[in-house]
Amino acid sequence: MKVFSAIKKRRSIRRFKEKEIPFRALQKCVEAARLSPTARNLQPLEFIVVQEQKNRQQAFECMKLGGVIAEKGMKKGEEPKAFIVVLLNRQKAYDYSINDAGIAVQSIALAALEEGLGTCIIGAVDRQKLAPLLGIPEQCQIALVVALGYPKEKPRIAENNEKTSYWIEKGTLFVPKKSLQSVMHREKY
Ligand SMILES: Cc1cc2nc3c(=O)[nH]c(=O)nc-3n(C[C@H](O)[C@H](O)[C@H](O)COP(=O)(O)O)c2cc1C
Repeated sequence: MKVFSAIKKRRSIRRFKEKEIPFRALQKCVEAARLSPTARNLQPLEFIVVQEQKNRQQAFECMKLGGVIAEKGMKKGEEPKAFIVVLLNRQKAYDYSINDAGIAVQSIALAALEEGLGTCIIGAVDRQKLAPLLGIPEQCQIALVVALGYPKEKPRIAENNEKTSYWIEKGTLFVPKKSLQSVMHREKY
């Protein structure tokens, strides 16, 4: 898949098929994150792949997926089938390192897309609850989590400069995006 097509195609997926993900595909996603840029090349990120049924269920209880939309739209069995928890090791990090996590999750999302997987980056995580469940050591903070699974929905972009909140219409998730014109400046603001 061409890079720009993949960037255009990737949407946050919050409803997944009842199909398990081969570990190989998850490993490839972590590999994509491992190879991503990090400030000063400090490589302060580590990753936990959570896939076993009981573990992922417990982990999922620590997260908020899609807020109101999820409550309206998600049925039993549609939950994520794995999570990649992105950790920032404070002992290896410096001021800009949190940005590394943002880059890593996009790499995960794009590598996952190539594997036919849908993803949702999750920031709304109860970190105090999740950290002990996963045995995360003191020096590591949970930066972000990526939920993964085979997509059971096909969200669509809605060109819209006014709205930022997404919505469901006739079962389809619409994601508003601002126009290129409205966000791009040339030479000066
Ligand atoms: C840093 C970050 C944190 C996010 N946290 C959440 C979250 O906690 N729950 C959720 O359902 N989606 C979360 N998202 C997904 C956004 O809601 C989503 O990217 C946005 O609605 C645009 O949709 P798109 O990803 O399809 O372009 C997060 C995305 C980013 C980049």
